[in-house]
Amino acid sequence: MLVMTANVAVLAQGLTLRQDNIDEVLSELTLKEKAELVVGAGYKSMLAGMTGAKVAVPGAAGMTRAIPRLGIPAIVLSDGPAGVRIEPSRKGSTDSFYCTGFPIGSLLSSTWNTEIVERVGAAIGNEALEYGVDVLLAPGMNIHRNPLCGRNFEYYSEDPLLSGKIAASYIRGVQSQGVGTSVKHFAANNQETNRFWNDSRVSEEVLREIYLRNFEIAVREAGPWTVMASYNRLNGIHTQEDKWLLTDVLRNEWNYEGLVMTDWTGNRNTAAQIQAGCDLMEPGKRSQIRELVRKVKKGELAEADLDICVRRVLELVVKTPVFKGYERSLKPDLAAHAVVAREAAEEGIVLLKNDQSALPLAQGAVAALFGVGSYQLLAGGTGSGHVHRPYVMQLDDALAREGITVFAPLAALYRQHIMAHPPKKSFLSGMLGSPAIPEMPVSYATLESAATGADMAVITLSRQAGEGGDRHLDDDFLLSDPEIRLLTDACEVFHSLGKKVIVVLNVGGVVETASWKQLPDAIVLGWQPGQEGGSALARILSGSVCPSGKLPVTFPIDYFDLPSSANFPFDYSGRNSMSAGSEKENDVKNVGYTVYEEGFDVGYRYFSQPGAPAVSYPFGFGLSYTSFEVSEPVFSGDTVSISVKNVGAVAGKEVVMILDPVLRAFGKTRLLQPGETETLILTLAELDTTHFVIEQRPGI
Ligand code: BGC
Repeated sequence: MLVMTANVAVLAQGLTLRQDNIDEVLSELTLKEKAELVVGAGYKSMLAGMTGAKVAVPGAAGMTRAIPRLGIPAIVLSDGPAGVRIEPSRKGSTDSFYCTGFPIGSLLSSTWNTEIVERVGAAIGNEALEYGVDVLLAPGMNIHRNPLCGRNFEYYSEDPLLSGKIAASYIRGVQSQGVGTSVKHFAANNQETNRFWNDSRVSEEVLREIYLRNFEIAVREAGPWTVMASYNRLNGIHTQEDKWLLTDVLRNEWNYEGLVMTDWTGNRNTAAQIQAGCDLMEPGKRSQIRELVRKVKKGELAEADLDICVRRVLELVVKTPVFKGYERSLKPDLAAHAVVAREAAEEGIVLLKNDQSALPLAQGAVAALFGVGSYQLLAGGTGSGHVHRPYVMQLDDALAREGITVFAPLAALYRQHIMAHPPKKSFLSGMLGSPAIPEMPVSYATLESAATGADMAVITLSRQAGEGGDRHLDDDFLLSDPEIRLLTDACEVFHSLGKKVIVVLNVGGVVETASWKQLPDAIVLGWQPGQEGGSALARILSGSVCPSGKLPVTFPIDYFDLPSSANFPFDYSGRNSMSAGSEKENDVKNVGYTVYEEGFDVGYRYFSQPGAPAVSYPFGFGLSYTSFEVSEPVFSGDTVSISVKNVGAVAGKEVVMILDPVLRAFGKTRLLQPGETETLILTLAELDTTHFVIEQRPGI
């Protein structure tokens, strides 16, 4: 709840900003002050952990500038999607300022549960509020066009409806706390290679139906306070300078009334951005202020255009906690939020394979845990998607709590290996997260003694990615040779003794599964499940929780089955070392481009067509420990009702999806006890058939 106290404003000349006098304040501002309001205050807050600069929130990505004489405070902007990213410690203070590490975006969308995502948003929003952040730079919601995009973990899905609905829930949650959001990165920001310059070349039909549709849903349904334009170009124009995108589509068609800001570094033509409807330049350089003043004076930029952006900044400012004088406590309820993080993780973990009920594990069983990730789980990705969380609950400790004994001699070897490979500490890793520890080679003799001493093997395979780079095929999308060897040998040794092998995928994005999935008995897709990830995984493995996550993205058999693979930069044996037609990365700036030649053929929209290649796991896939009977859908106007009955032996939740022929609605049941039924009433999303010829898209 917001508490009003004396405004931070200092009265001068009697005029001070209020919610109802924005025009009056605007007319009082000098040209320089106007330019200052649309140009952020620089990197001071982001770098404060290193420099010790006195700022409101050390580690916050950016701020705006204050105009004290008119009672306009500076507002604080902070990442990010998996939790608030600020410095966990401050010079001169013994207090800590940790934030809860929530599961990554791909896991949140795997819940297919808008209610739990809204609770995650509310918890993150509350931490932002209590630490003094006014706008959270999240959610990230670019479409998973290709699995190698290094930031897919921050995003939701290959499907725009699922992505849009999950984002809208997240936004509603954050903004319920009186804190703003910034939906990002608008738009067609689907790769990290050459990210400041790459030109996404995509037809308007495809753009509207796939790459803008999710943003449209989020904007129309949840009203984010701000939108962040992306780094890339779109059909030749930097999105930050694209009037068609930022004004014609976003504001005029979608009736968006909030503010648009830039993404952080990269290309700037400040006046062009103002003219396009990009209101706030972050993190902001003094030279941009000078440029704006100069251009207005020379008549190259209309002051009226600048005024439009200034008004939007003021409209944002008056909504913020700092303007309203909210007294932050610096003490959010981290214990309560950890429960939300765990519950979300439990709902988004996807059971991909479970032959002969290998899972859940029997109480009292002894598990041999392989893979560094079994002891050092990766809770999230790096870059601005990283969170300084107070701890990460590890799988080994959490399994012990669930009554599963961890095979100690193997655990001791892994702990030694981890101690011998401490994460490299640097300023950047402190700010953005450390890379994963390399895997430990496991000898055949170690496998044999583990197979004798334990009842089963659990092998955790981890992947790490983050902004600024895309993933690679070798040793990333594909398993590495040591991983394949470990998996093959473990299956041979454990199976020869009649013991099972379970694989846990601790990944941010899709990995290849088709070539090895026949080896283990069970596969659990844990994603990067946040700081409570170990607990959530252990509760799924032990059967305390019945898995209910479903894939928000297709797992192809072969990377090259994906139509987008023909036009995605990756470094693979010299084939296609950069987007089709472009030069090598960063060679000649303005020339990098990616043609979205696959058109609508993204994810299941392609793989469900007759004649398309088979997949390893389809969109929407996910197993359970129980089973459900789902009634025939009954359509009535724009709603559809479906009854779901739990006909299995344990309590569980089920997801219902209406694919007609693309996803038009989805819902998730509450926890249904055996024998219990719930009727879901879902609203069908409209399909814009002017942009999408429905008859051409077969159902799945
Ligand atoms: C990222 C944004 C982030 C910003 C501030 C940029 O590099 O692309 O997602 O919000 O930095 O940290």
